[in-house]
Amino acid sequence: MKSWAPIHVNIGFVVGVLFVLLTYLVVSQRAATSGGLSVVASDVQQIENKQLIQGSGESEKGRVVYDTKGNYAPTCEVDGDVRINSTALSVFLVPASRSERREWTIQPYSRKNMPDIKTVTVTQLPDKAAAPPCTVTYSIPAVLFALGGLTGNFWHDFSDVLVPLFIACRRYDGEVQFLISNMKPWWPVAYKTILRRLSRYDAVDLDGDGDAHVRCFPHVTVGIHQHNGLSIVPEWVPGGRRLDMTDFTRFMREVYALPRGAPVSLNREEPGKRPRLLLVHRGHSRRFLNEDEVLRAAEAAGFEAVALDLRRDETVDANARAVNSFDALLGVHGAGLTNAVFLPPGGVLIQVVPYGKMDVIATLEFGLPAKEMGLRYLDYIVAAEESSLMETLGPEHPAIKDPDSIHSSGWDKMTEFYLNMQSVRIDVARFAPTLKLAFDQLRQQQRQGGV
Ligand SMILES: *[C@@H]1O[C@H](CO)[C@@H](O)[C@H](O)[C@H]1NC(C)=O
Repeated sequence: MKSWAPIHVNIGFVVGVLFVLLTYLVVSQRAATSGGLSVVASDVQQIENKQLIQGSGESEKGRVVYDTKGNYAPTCEVDGDVRINSTALSVFLVPASRSERREWTIQPYSRKNMPDIKTVTVTQLPDKAAAPPCTVTYSIPAVLFALGGLTGNFWHDFSDVLVPLFIACRRYDGEVQFLISNMKPWWPVAYKTILRRLSRYDAVDLDGDGDAHVRCFPHVTVGIHQHNGLSIVPEWVPGGRRLDMTDFTRFMREVYALPRGAPVSLNREEPGKRPRLLLVHRGHSRRFLNEDEVLRAAEAAGFEAVALDLRRDETVDANARAVNSFDALLGVHGAGLTNAVFLPPGGVLIQVVPYGKMDVIATLEFGLPAKEMGLRYLDYIVAAEESSLMETLGPEHPAIKDPDSIHSSGWDKMTEFYLNMQSVRIDVARFAPTLKLAFDQLRQQQRQGGV
């Protein structure tokens, strides 16, 4: 299973770039229409374009709800006598009596317009006669979703699949069958500890299911609904259970048996104990060029500071446990900050925002989610003098002099300069107040928000 790792790094890099494109488009579109970031929690459109198809008879069960709320991919809830032909990726609702034939198409990945995701057809059949006979019949519901897309980037693994799956499945308490298309065999291995809690049963790989099977369920969710990155809109959670991101991080602590549900107490209880700060070490771009100096500055501010390379091994388990032993996570903007989901609530996330007006994206992807998770959030915006771009491009380059011109020339220039080419040499004197603030926030922390 080790063999995927090197390939994975490259794919991760490529999709990281794509991810920025998508986020960039979303952010600029939103900035254009709403003039700010308040869109995230308060301004999410409450549109419900539901097409509700119901049978005519009293006793008749069976309906399809096509759900397009929010800005991400639509999903379909199919309830009744549901039959799935895996080869054809066809989901049929078999009516009890004659009904109108209706058809919907769904790409079962939570982001729209992913070129590699296979399309699923959901058909409400006109009558029983047209239904394929069942070869396997289940008494539990199923959730059909795709891997592929931008999975392989740690942030996308959570925002595009794991958080949407949690939203879709928490109501079932493990009694649900996963049906996966666009299978990436390493993915369920990497996240097996989480997946096992969401579903007690081995997932069906739809790509390898063959012609032989028509699998039948009382209810199937086709596609999984992303609310907004690492974010949950409680009112949108199916099954009448209002979940939010603190429920998701509590679930992470349950799943990985993470012991810490609160940061270290710096009051009477544990005298002499220092809070622990984890600096996320990155491999290629957006590195700390003076990592040791930053660690010493964190120590000077009162932390016990450690740098770790959190790029995932075969599974996520060891990283989850390591991160939970810290009280603060410090890193330059990037997928590694997703590890904040394993921090104890009340802990601190410090995001170093690269030079080049990257604060809107940084806030959207990590700042607001951190608050939703019950973490304290601080950002530190890198000055031109702290950016490696100053050395490589010189002070006269538009990327230094005029970041707006880079942003308006499009996502590819923006990612090239500010994400892929850039590393940072932090001015520790300028950074010291941020570290002090992080330390003070932990000190003010009451012992609350336990597991
Ligand atoms: C599933 O669909 C394929 C393609 O339409 C078809 O060839 C196959 O016979 C179907 N399988 C069953 C068991 O009905």
